[in-house]
Amino acid sequence: MPRFQSILSRIVILHIVAVVITSILMSVGLSWLLSYATNNIHNKAMQEQANAVAERLSVDADGRLQLNLSSDLLGLYSPEYGRYSFAVIDAHGAVLFSSAKDHTALFPADTRRGEVEFLQQRRDSATVSGASVRKTIGNQTVWVQAGEDLTNRDVLTDDIVADFYKDVGWITLPILLVLLITDIAIFRRALRPLREASEIAAEIGPTRPGLRLPTKEIPREVRPLVSAVNLGLDRMEEGFKIQREFTADAAHELRTPLSILRTRIDVLEDTEIRQALRHNVEGMAHIVGQLLDFAELDAVAIDPTEKADLQSVAAEVAEFVAPLALAQGKDVALSGATAPVWVRGSAEMLSRAIRNLAENAINHTAPGSTVEFVVEDSGKVSVLDQGPGIAEHERELIFRRFWRRDRRKAGSTGLGLSIVQRIAELHSATITVENRRPNGACFSLKFAPLK
Ligand SMILES: Nc1ncnc2c1ncn2[C@@H]1O[C@H](COP(=O)(O)OP(=O)(O)OP(=O)(O)O)[C@@H](O)[C@H]1O
Ligand SMILES: [Mg+2]
Repeated sequence: MPRFQSILSRIVILHIVAVVITSILMSVGLSWLLSYATNNIHNKAMQEQANAVAERLSVDADGRLQLNLSSDLLGLYSPEYGRYSFAVIDAHGAVLFSSAKDHTALFPADTRRGEVEFLQQRRDSATVSGASVRKTIGNQTVWVQAGEDLTNRDVLTDDIVADFYKDVGWITLPILLVLLITDIAIFRRALRPLREASEIAAEIGPTRPGLRLPTKEIPREVRPLVSAVNLGLDRMEEGFKIQREFTADAAHELRTPLSILRTRIDVLEDTEIRQALRHNVEGMAHIVGQLLDFAELDAVAIDPTEKADLQSVAAEVAEFVAPLALAQGKDVALSGATAPVWVRGSAEMLSRAIRNLAENAINHTAPGSTVEFVVEDSGKVSVLDQGPGIAEHERELIFRRFWRRDRRKAGSTGLGLSIVQRIAELHSATITVENRRPNGACFSLKFAPLK
């Protein structure tokens, strides 16, 4: 599995690498700048010391150079102190004056060309760094060299440079960490619309094919992906529609041959065969009808101004299915509200839903028992039977398309409750399934009552 799959973790890792590199570069760069600055100060100080020594040079009556150091300067260049040293050399490199015991020049490498030159020289265990300045005294040109023993140098500046690494590290690290945290926060914020889009995407499915991902707040870099997904969903929806239409068309096309078949059967002479075939054709017609209903419901939309009287719809259905029940030695009863119960929705669809529940109840109720219709003023209609009821583990299965407990049963498609569920969905109604005591099922549809 590839590591760091999340953009955030990638950014954090790269950011940490960047933070480390930046702190190192910053420390190195800044301490280089600092040591450059301290070197400059040192060079200037050495040049000034050389100037100070040069000021004490004079020409005596014989035309010879004399050096008269003040007591301050003598102390400064004393071998006891050992930190500073000077030398004065002439144009040929001969040493005229020197603070060194062995009377030598500080910088043998002095080219004696420039106005001022900065030099460094190792001497025994010491490193002397300083300046060589050209001076003209009387008619003589001399070079005054002043130097400082770096090993003896005041440790202050060195300390600053050394400490700098630590200090800069301690200062830059928290700053860069704060930056990192800010970046993470910014990034999470930028990703929030994507999370929201994912939540919407999770709801897209066959029951809600019309949902699309929002493109408004999506970062521009990701928008092409979201738009492409939306276009893909458009094409899928179109494909679904074509399939639905095909099912509806197919069911529709089957109706004519079925009715032809029905009339042919009706003229058959053999009563027994006629009865059996009629039964089979009715079963087939039922399946075709359910398929057609189901396919139609997918594309339908509810007119929000439409209203229906639940009480009269239930009464009509009860009346419609009564002969079917009686033929099987079962009874139908209607109770509850007597006045109209108005709900928002289509009477035709409510009737279709209740009819499916009623057919199921009649099919499953025990012979000699009664299927009851109960309408409540609150906008609820229930269909109760005295059959086997619905086992706990079947509560979800029964609403699946084409699911039926007994697959061998003729004339049952397993679409009835899917149709009921879809109609309930279209009306924002809730379906509840309960078992009755001692036996039987109770299916209820609860609609929002019209105020
Ligand atoms: N009142 C009920 N009592 C017991 N079982 C039921 C009841 N209603 C439905 N079922 C079970 O749920 C299954 C699915 O019901 P559904 O109405 O969806 O399909 P169907 O009745 O088999 O076929 P169709 O309604 O399409 O003709 C049924 O086959 C049956 O096994
Ligand atoms: Mg059914």
